[in-house]
Amino acid sequence: MKYIDEWNIADSGISDDDILINGNRFLIGNGNLGYRGTVEEADATHMPATICNGLYDRQGKKWREPVNIPNPIVIRLFTQQKDLLSIKSHNLLSHEQRLNFRYGIFSRSTSWNVNNSNIQVQSERFLSMDEPHHLYVKYRVITDAPVTLLCERGIDGLVYDINGPHLIQFESDQYDSMLQLRCKTQEQLIPITVISEAKYVGGDTVRQFEQHTVSKVPYIAELIKIELHPQIPFVIYCRSSIYSGEESSHSYEEDIKLNYAWNKEGDVLYDRALQRHRSVWDRLWKDGDVIIEGDPASQRSLRFSLYHLQSIAPRHRAGLSVPARGLSGQTYKGAVFWDTELFISPYFLSTDPSVVRNFILYRIRTLPGAIRKAHEYGYLGAFYAWESQETGEDACSDFNVVDVFTGRPVRTYFKDKQIHISADIVYAIKQYLSMTGDVSILTEGAFEVILNCALFYFSYIYYSPMKNRYEVLDVIGPDEYHERVNNNAFTNYMVHFTLNTALEYINYFSDTDKQFLSDKLQSTGFLPYIPLLYDLVSKIYLPEPNENGIIEQFDGYFRLEDLSITELKKRLLDPKEYWGGANGVASHTQIIKQADVVALLHLFKDQFSNLIKERNITYYASRTEHGSSLSASMHSLVYCDVGQPELAFPYFKKTAEIDLTGEAKQFAGLIYIGGTHPAANGGSWMSVVYGFCGFAVKDGTIFIKPQLPKHWKKVVFTSYVQGKKYTITVNKDGYTIC
Ligand code: BGC
Repeated sequence: MKYIDEWNIADSGISDDDILINGNRFLIGNGNLGYRGTVEEADATHMPATICNGLYDRQGKKWREPVNIPNPIVIRLFTQQKDLLSIKSHNLLSHEQRLNFRYGIFSRSTSWNVNNSNIQVQSERFLSMDEPHHLYVKYRVITDAPVTLLCERGIDGLVYDINGPHLIQFESDQYDSMLQLRCKTQEQLIPITVISEAKYVGGDTVRQFEQHTVSKVPYIAELIKIELHPQIPFVIYCRSSIYSGEESSHSYEEDIKLNYAWNKEGDVLYDRALQRHRSVWDRLWKDGDVIIEGDPASQRSLRFSLYHLQSIAPRHRAGLSVPARGLSGQTYKGAVFWDTELFISPYFLSTDPSVVRNFILYRIRTLPGAIRKAHEYGYLGAFYAWESQETGEDACSDFNVVDVFTGRPVRTYFKDKQIHISADIVYAIKQYLSMTGDVSILTEGAFEVILNCALFYFSYIYYSPMKNRYEVLDVIGPDEYHERVNNNAFTNYMVHFTLNTALEYINYFSDTDKQFLSDKLQSTGFLPYIPLLYDLVSKIYLPEPNENGIIEQFDGYFRLEDLSITELKKRLLDPKEYWGGANGVASHTQIIKQADVVALLHLFKDQFSNLIKERNITYYASRTEHGSSLSASMHSLVYCDVGQPELAFPYFKKTAEIDLTGEAKQFAGLIYIGGTHPAANGGSWMSVVYGFCGFAVKDGTIFIKPQLPKHWKKVVFTSYVQGKKYTITVNKDGYTIC
């Protein structure tokens, strides 16, 4: 990896591992689509992927996952002997690919030796931030000696899938330079249309249409024979258009009209599209950037993280969210987890609250799925999907891991028992309301979400007459290694928070709109439980710190074997074995997967003293594996909170660099699990703004508690509070807000 400057990275790697990691690292996206950072000649073995936000499919009984649609930008050069010029060719002279993350522009420069002539390809591409369906590519070939090359520009229906194939009923068309490949998804027959158009400039060309089918999957291409003259570039200006579902319903005649314009002036249209795309990015960075002075490496990794967040923010369509691996592929089933609410939302809440509004609309839209899930388990209200796709059905499987010793699937209870998910959503709604004051979201469905989540907990928790308190039994907290525990402190506080929030907004509507309140209490079935609400709020068990100041993660946690992570690792019989569940090496010990009590200390930071926070982070940090990319940011936040920014800094680095270094796990057994890590990206922003700058908003007032790392001179960031924009500058000596 080469760091060129604070907005550009480059890499020359061509090994299989490099190709995989660079697919994520060099990803481009516009919230509607994500396109992996592979080269134009890539075939399915390079794992190129074009992912449409919100489009899923199921093949047979396999896991539902995002659809990797036909690759819209295949450009392949061949010698006259039909040898492909690729980054894997023996005659490769050099290769470098770059990402400009100021403007979301991927570029590459590659050269080959063909019969002693040096052939160089330079290309750039962007997924337009201005036009959610368009991907633009400029592909330039130049030589230092006369040479004849063959060039294919096409759309490839043969893509890689984790649980596919997903595409059927292929049809193709060609009209002048316009290639169209249409197909449908297997499960719901959702139509997908991919169009590729080109304008060719320079070189002497002869063109012909090609189509071949590889095991029922078509690859359509235009084949061009190019006579290249020394130093006279041949350039392809290519526009791909990608539509799915209802968006596919434009007419072929309309497409032809658009193609006519592209044929005539594709080069000019390309430049204009690039200009518009750049201006949208300029606008996004105006509010979305954070300046760190004194540490170029931190500046770069933070910006890179923010770039990834901006690239996946769904701004084009109401009611979409962000999958846990962004738009980088099919891993994690393309599902939306609590990552969105607790790790990704904060950044947008400050810089573009409309994105968070959209996340909430997604949860409102998927409320029926959450109600169905609660009902299936015998509960009332809304139990949100642990892994949520487009309808809110839970995509999480009963068996999420495979026992490496027996090869048998292991029953995991993530979906059944991570009940904190509903409360996480309520937490995010509350944050949105406090930061924006936009109560209209409540009447658009958020109030029903809150009531239903509270109702779910009503039906989940138990009253213990002996202890005269309500308890939350048989759950999994954020630490997934310890399954089915009682009174997980994080969960109990979150349930309490949800009940309190329900009460708060019932009171709010009782003062402002009694009719609305009465309608909603009736329609959600909440009415009979109102008298109980006060009892629950006051009597729910909230685990307190023990005599040493430590909050027990769950009942009996302190009785588990206490050993170091190094000792635990010595017990592993296979590096890939799963640490949690019934038989995992960590299950009967105090070693945990990720921030749990530590996450609680951050979310409810005003409820615990510094001493308690300090004791707990010291205790839990050494017992945490950080096996989830969500863990580091929480540690960095709490270390900052207790005034130890130097201890926070390595955690900040870990969360901010995760997608830059690409060091995160790529495979679990034979299953590809790589991808980008939006929750960690969001965590890096929280670490800087909430952590090092100590930014907080209470009742509309901004508070700053600066504690920058020693080598940082200054941080500047933007936050909207109640609709008003503030620029906040924090330095060693203090801060300004204007
Ligand atoms: C973590 C979850 C997280 C999910 C998606 C899991 O490994 O334990 O907390 O939501 O990954 O990022």
